[in-house]
Amino acid sequence: MNILGIETSCDETAAAVWLNDRLASNLIASQEVHTKFGGVVPELASRAHVKLILPIVESAINQATINKSNLDGIAVTSGPGLAGSLLVGLNFAKAMALSLSIPYVGVNHIEGHLFSNSVFEKGPQPPFIALIISGGHTQLVLVKSWGEYEILGKTRDDAAGEAFDKVAKMLELPYPGGPAIEKLALDGDPDYVSLPKAKIKNSELDFSYSGLKTAVLYHLQSLKPSERQRHKADIAACFQVAAVDVLVDNSMKALKKYEINQLTIAGGVACNSYLRNKLKEACKKQNYTLFCPPVILCTDNGAMIARAGKFYLDKGQYSEFSLSPKPSLVLQSNLQK
Ligand code: KG4
Ligand code: ZN
Repeated sequence: MNILGIETSCDETAAAVWLNDRLASNLIASQEVHTKFGGVVPELASRAHVKLILPIVESAINQATINKSNLDGIAVTSGPGLAGSLLVGLNFAKAMALSLSIPYVGVNHIEGHLFSNSVFEKGPQPPFIALIISGGHTQLVLVKSWGEYEILGKTRDDAAGEAFDKVAKMLELPYPGGPAIEKLALDGDPDYVSLPKAKIKNSELDFSYSGLKTAVLYHLQSLKPSERQRHKADIAACFQVAAVDVLVDNSMKALKKYEINQLTIAGGVACNSYLRNKLKEACKKQNYTLFCPPVILCTDNGAMIARAGKFYLDKGQYSEFSLSPKPSLVLQSNLQK
């Protein structure tokens, strides 16, 4: 099956082509328009998607050196995400499927991230546990089989990526904050100040980032402007340690509790090298196998959507043309028996 994957849930306009058993193209246009606002402006994101979607899809098809008439199906993110952004991708996919008389399938964005480890090389085989850490989600998921999921833990407030972005803003770093904090933290002292871990009392596998975020804010407020500048890198390093520690701790607890020996990570925060190294160490100690997708597949992309869509299209599971965007879609088992 030759499949076009389209992703427009937030601020990346992305398209990829999957030719039978290999990824043939994977293009991502990151929208620069949000940088000066320090975060994604939903209305501007929708408008940028409208402008970018046709050239991105055309380039992805050209780069795969096929003609659009060679496509057998289309996979498109139908939720969760920004309503206007999802609408652009979903309507485009429907129109294209209709005009080519081919099926299309709406893909859950989080499920797309789950499939990101299976794009290039042989990925994890269910059952495994996935730590999904992005700008909108922080979840530990038990993948019982592809299409069959159980959420073991999730954030009670901010997502991990959102916390990185908000703390970066406090430190006057550019958006997105994750890469900026990671870079700055390399020059910082991780023992400069003790910050609370991003976790919830009495809830083993859930996360909470609001206490950590507030602790950073209060610490910054306690400093004189000159000290604030001087300790920026130290604060970034301390925040990163506190934010990452709980991701590692909870993942290890989940693997032990559910007697699973494979862990995968996915989502933008999974780009973070400090996290990758900490997880590698912890998994090695316990003899667990860790799967980390290449960085290009951690942040939002069309390849993971094409890969997830392929799973359903191969089984003949398609979406109706009446499908509407689902901004608050949760990860659920959606395999039709
Ligand atoms: O998966 P993604 O591209 O979009 C969503 O589905 O949300 O994730 C974006 C998030 C942003 O919050 C960004 O700051 C974070 O991933 N991120 C990182 C790093 N690179 C991106 N966080 C920590 N360290 C990084 N290197
Ligand atoms: Zn994402």
